[in-house]
Amino acid sequence: MKFSGFSVSCTALLAVTGGEAAFPHTGTTPLRGEAERENILFGSGAINPAYLNDTLFSATLAQQFNSLSPENEMKWSLLEPTEGNYDWDTLDRLVEFAKENDMVVKGHGLISSCCNPDYVSNITDPTLLRAAMTRHFNAIMQRYNSTIDRWDVVTEALQSMGGGLNNNTFYQILGPGYIADAFRIARSAAPNAKLFLNENLVETLPGKRKELHDLVSGLIAAGVPIDGIALQMHETFVGPIPGVITQMVNSYRALGLQTTIAEMDVHTLNSTAQADIYGAVVNEALDAGITDISFWGFTDKHLYTWIPGAKPLMFDASYKPKSAFYATHTALADFIKRTRSDCFR
Ligand code: XIL
Repeated sequence: MKFSGFSVSCTALLAVTGGEAAFPHTGTTPLRGEAERENILFGSGAINPAYLNDTLFSATLAQQFNSLSPENEMKWSLLEPTEGNYDWDTLDRLVEFAKENDMVVKGHGLISSCCNPDYVSNITDPTLLRAAMTRHFNAIMQRYNSTIDRWDVVTEALQSMGGGLNNNTFYQILGPGYIADAFRIARSAAPNAKLFLNENLVETLPGKRKELHDLVSGLIAAGVPIDGIALQMHETFVGPIPGVITQMVNSYRALGLQTTIAEMDVHTLNSTAQADIYGAVVNEALDAGITDISFWGFTDKHLYTWIPGAKPLMFDASYKPKSAFYATHTALADFIKRTRSDCFR
């Protein structure tokens, strides 16, 4: 995707970013229009390709976001339910949609604790398990080599509340080294792609934050090819303490790594608090230098929550923008105004 560059005239750029497509009606510029003025990725994850049949869903996604990633469709048991039989149609549809709408795609879920088929979970020989990972990664990453240039290679390596690595299929057979194995295999499969470790709750739990940093420092010291951290950022009633995002960005930058937000949403029944958290997180993230922010979906029509009654996303189930949308838009647009010099102020 080509983002609007500095060489484009002010008038031309305003024409691109100022217009508003017919649906949904937000009364603002689209989020992606603002983001693209500073080469920022503003995306939505949790895109189940079946949702694209809903034209209101597709219109909102294409209007507001310039990046997307699948929900579960790239997890092992969904993509390759029986050995060697891949459901490419589903992912191809997502990639085609992205191309048609000038969006980029992020790969998500190569290694996940969830959704591993028995033919993988039953492997007990480390060499055979690494071979299965290599075959699986090569098939996916090479198929989408020209379109997907960033991947969550491992998601949720650490236990939810911290205190060690998740005891998943890969850990059980390969030990803690499965993470390094996964990144090395991914780098060989897609040498030019950016590779991320995706983790939850580190913005909230100081102990887990340190644990992740120690883990990643160890990977770097061992020469493991990792490009960055993907913070999930599923927030609940209170957002992260101000300064924590900045501190994380700086600490990973010191290791030569990029920090991204991969799955943000806010699970609370209080819509004012929700909007405040959306705004505060986006504001601090952008100020700290994060240029890749994705949400875990955008409409409460298709939400994922563990808090009964919570509606965590920016648009309601009828695609009406919520306060969370406006808080996000304001944080983004204000950042763009602060950042740009010349005619855009
Ligand atoms: C979730 C999906 O949204 C659910 O449909 C599924 O039941 C469980 O997984 N972090 C991740 C995502 O990295 O893969 C998870 O997705 C949400 C938490």
